[in-house]
Amino acid sequence: MTADAIPSLDIVRTCPYAPPAQHRSFRQEAPIAKVKLPTGATAWAITRHEDIRTLLSDPRFSASRKNPGFPHLSPLVMPALNGKPLLIEMDGQEHAAARRAVVGEFTVKRAAALTARIQQIVDEHIDAMLAGPRPVDLVQALSLPVPSLVICELLGVPYADHGFFQARSALLVSREAPLEAKGLAFFELLSYLDKLVTDKEQNPTDDLLGRQVLKLREEGTYDHESMLNLSFILLIAGHETTANMISLSTLALLKNPEKLAALRQNPEKTLAAVEELLRYFTIAELGVGRVATEDVELGGVLIRAGEGVVVLANIGNRDPEVFRDADELDLERGARNHVAFGFGAHQCLGQNLARIELQIVLDTLFRRIPELRLAVPEEKLPFKSDALVYGLHEFPVTW
Ligand code: HEM
Repeated sequence: MTADAIPSLDIVRTCPYAPPAQHRSFRQEAPIAKVKLPTGATAWAITRHEDIRTLLSDPRFSASRKNPGFPHLSPLVMPALNGKPLLIEMDGQEHAAARRAVVGEFTVKRAAALTARIQQIVDEHIDAMLAGPRPVDLVQALSLPVPSLVICELLGVPYADHGFFQARSALLVSREAPLEAKGLAFFELLSYLDKLVTDKEQNPTDDLLGRQVLKLREEGTYDHESMLNLSFILLIAGHETTANMISLSTLALLKNPEKLAALRQNPEKTLAAVEELLRYFTIAELGVGRVATEDVELGGVLIRAGEGVVVLANIGNRDPEVFRDADELDLERGARNHVAFGFGAHQCLGQNLARIELQIVLDTLFRRIPELRLAVPEEKLPFKSDALVYGLHEFPVTW
């Protein structure tokens, strides 16, 4: 294929509830298609559910952003943090060891132990909504503060600083913010966390970061930079994603009153509904990239060493061979084999926490405000077509 014939990868959705049509056409015409990225580099777009899972389980594909073939979607603003990689960009043994050190904080059991506190946080925010003026922006009133507060308490980051780090993480995941602004946001966030981690080293409080300091020191494996990087990735990954899913899930239920009514009658089905909402929206639709470290044959295509691959998770999650009527939002589908949290070694560390947060928010919101409705025409909703993670910038609701 000549360079001109390689299509540019569409990264903006035209329908808010469906992946870009071009991605679907890849699935039909060339499930592994060579594409041009916004940076001008080329990479392979992977669309079949089976290929995605095979690729993400194959150690010959690296997550290292330092590799020149890595398929960046926007110019890099986080060159080598401090010489040490983030969890999401580690490979092999290094990744396995770093993940093992922290995975105990994210088990189903640990997430379930947070249920009562999450419920309290959700109730307090709904109390404030009910006591305040209408309409209200659900993003600011509920979607963003709930996961933000939960991750702050878990990590031991003062929530009073949420305005500071929310603004900076929003810049980091934006595709359109000027590079200088992103670079500054990155620097400021790191400086903030650097001080926080230093405080934990001097006074290890009973929170995730404090516990990690004590545990790793005891094992003799502690180092400041790695802890700084861990705090950075957990703080960033832990709130934007879940916040966007809370807004989009609420919107989907408002648009489907019969489905919402059925769910309200059977709240024990909310967890299955959450799983389907995760599949349906696949908010990190372009967020998973890798680079081949050797020549690899995948789905009949030879991917050469050094070539990048972009997982089109949204198309994988609508693969007709795996999900029947895949474009339908079927809250009773009960399919947990989606790839909205990725797959393989890097599969989302916070998935159990995200599921519980979504379950509690959706159950409580519609129980306590059954008359909830959109406060603007649906066409006026500002979807995040400019971010790396899909969602809503604002979500005006009333009741
Ligand atoms: C990894 C999605 C919530 C922490 C990932 C990956 C995806 C993802 C697709 C895989 C990236 C890759 O393979 O390169 C989501 C979605 C969420 C969510 C859709 C919400 C609905 C969270 C939360 C936390 C979190 C609440 C933290 C508390 C992480 C971390 C990784 C990760 C640390 C990297 C894991 C590793 O590299 O081993 N997430 N995430 N995520 N996520 Fe999430």
